[in-house]
Amino acid sequence: MTKTMIVGNWKMNGTQPVARSLAEGLVNNDIIRSAHADGVQVVCCPPFTALSLVQQTIADTPIQLGGQACHHQRQGAHTGDVSAAMLRDVGCSHVLVGHSERRRDHHESDDQVVAISIAAIDAGLVPIICVGETLEEHQQGLTRNVLQRQVGILCSALGNNLSRCVLAYEPVWAIGTGLAATAEHVETTHAYIAEVTRTHGIVIPVLYGGSANASNAEELLSSEHVNGLLVGGASLDAISFAGIVAAARRKGGASS
Ligand code: 13P
Repeated sequence: MTKTMIVGNWKMNGTQPVARSLAEGLVNNDIIRSAHADGVQVVCCPPFTALSLVQQTIADTPIQLGGQACHHQRQGAHTGDVSAAMLRDVGCSHVLVGHSERRRDHHESDDQVVAISIAAIDAGLVPIICVGETLEEHQQGLTRNVLQRQVGILCSALGNNLSRCVLAYEPVWAIGTGLAATAEHVETTHAYIAEVTRTHGIVIPVLYGGSANASNAEELLSSEHVNGLLVGGASLDAISFAGIVAAARRKGGASS
């Protein structure tokens, strides 16, 4: 059964006590803990400093762990960075790659996104690669051009390895604004992404991210081309996150 994925990106939130209590909230929530029964895969991505303790808390549950970023080199003189192997070592199965906040704050380029994805795959992680247009590009009607470029580069550079990744369409204008993209925009854009990858012979799950919450999750997930959600703000509260997971469970593992 193809899975619907719900990924919580905690971003730069959560000292150890906060992270522990959030992780306990996830583990103790029946909807989240048994989500796999309906083909829903749940991944949480805490900040680096909380990975270890969250791993200990979610151990023995189907909830999986992801890093929020990693370096493309295996090791060496890269102060402040962590490698894909380090994430694997601490129990991660996934890593976010090329999030727009990384592209903005750390100037991660399309080429670096490719290199990081390769490093992640080599280390045994599933990269969740983020793409999406800025507000300015959206207003200029350039959404498809941006996605053609971002997804096209991934297809050409990664080839069949891209099928070992997950894509996340995160329109930058919808992130943290409370203004999620409309279901219609999501449907047409995800269909376009599927068209781009298909021309390269690649089939890959595509998540949507940007102000997803318990109230709009069902509608956002209604498109056959939406294989799950990448959730920021609403993943910081176990009850809100459970509401999103519940919507995914209603969709079940039926996504393409
Ligand atoms: P919000 O859900 O807070 O808009 O964040 C989305 C996001 O960036 C997830 O990676």
